[in-house]
Amino acid sequence: MVSVLVTGGAGFIGSNFVRFALDAHPDWHVTTLDKLTYAGRLETLHDIIDHPRHTFVRGDVADASVAAPLVRDADIVVHFAAETHVDRSILSAGEFITTDVFGTFVLLEAAREATHLKRFIQISTDEVYGSVAEGSSLETDELKPRNPYSASKAGADRLAYSYFATYDVPVIITRASNNYGPYQFPEKVIPLFVTNLIDDLHVPLYGDGGQIRDWLHVNDHCRGVDLLIESGINGEVYNIGGGNHVRNVDLTHRILELTGKTEALIRHVADRQGHDRRYSLDTTKLQALGWAPRARFEDGLAETVGWYRTNEWWWRPIKDADPAFRAYYEKQYGKTRV
Ligand code: NAD
Ligand code: TYD
Repeated sequence: MVSVLVTGGAGFIGSNFVRFALDAHPDWHVTTLDKLTYAGRLETLHDIIDHPRHTFVRGDVADASVAAPLVRDADIVVHFAAETHVDRSILSAGEFITTDVFGTFVLLEAAREATHLKRFIQISTDEVYGSVAEGSSLETDELKPRNPYSASKAGADRLAYSYFATYDVPVIITRASNNYGPYQFPEKVIPLFVTNLIDDLHVPLYGDGGQIRDWLHVNDHCRGVDLLIESGINGEVYNIGGGNHVRNVDLTHRILELTGKTEALIRHVADRQGHDRRYSLDTTKLQALGWAPRARFEDGLAETVGWYRTNEWWWRPIKDADPAFRAYYEKQYGKTRV
């Protein structure tokens, strides 16, 4: 059996990756290490938590007593665990440094001592390039992160590279664009807007809504990571982008259409501080290995809206019943919800 450690596997992309990996690789045993922060939920792993080739460990990546033995036992580490929401990083950045930077350091230190580790996949993000006015970012472009989240991810990204360059840890770094799909926490724009609209609540559109994101279906992201485990080159960085550049205002109209609601439910609210205007990735390097995104955005978005419609059991306890989520929501949006 190939021993695969997935950190952050109870979150959005990590859980999709664990599901994908168990299905695609009958010779893999996957261990999920997750702290179960507000964003990590066992419900997200409901169908695979008891899979015979899956082990769940609750723990903090920044706690070497838990994380280091797991890294030392692994053939492959896929490190998704992070604090991930830009708005939360603007409200309070401490946890981003502790988890995204220090947590990555703890895993990399353990990786130095691992005897049979073949890959350490550092899941970085396109946000490390900062706002890209025109053209598309290449892996060799300068990193210009502009908010505490993307700066913490840039720190982790370069720290991971340094452990390749200095200690020969078999690091590959991925920089993906905005993901969408099932099990995304309803603080992020697509699930927030879809679930608000299902309930006839307003959707808070920041600023003029002209910001552009390059949407990537989470399954295409998982396929990209999987391909890199197989065929990537250690020490290299690979962009993973969906090639779907959509303005937030257009995204909002598509979601209104898919939920059958009118634009009267759009509430224009103050812009995010330091809001990155546009992200865009050049994915030639990954495409050269044989990867291409499969999901058409129109279809993927419709499917995703359908998923939130039929899986209220998953998001209602967060949105309607979790006091921590309510507290965050009110801090962020005031009375926008009603
Ligand atoms: P998420 O917020 O949905 O999930 C993060 C998971 O990490 C949760 O399960 C949480 O409990 C866990 N976690 C947080 N702190 C931890 C800690 N200290 N120890 C152990 N577990 C901890 O995030 P996501 O959207 O699935 O993102 C996963 C990764 O992908 C992140 O590294 C993120 O930076 C990167 N990424 C995300 C996107 C996107 O669009 N969502 C795009 C590019 C890259
Ligand atoms: P988000 O899903 O938070 O992802 P990121 O900031 O990592 O790109 O936001 C996506 C875009 O949607 C971003 O330009 C901010 C915008 N947005 C809103 O307009 N309103 C909202 O309530 C949220 C959460 C995001």
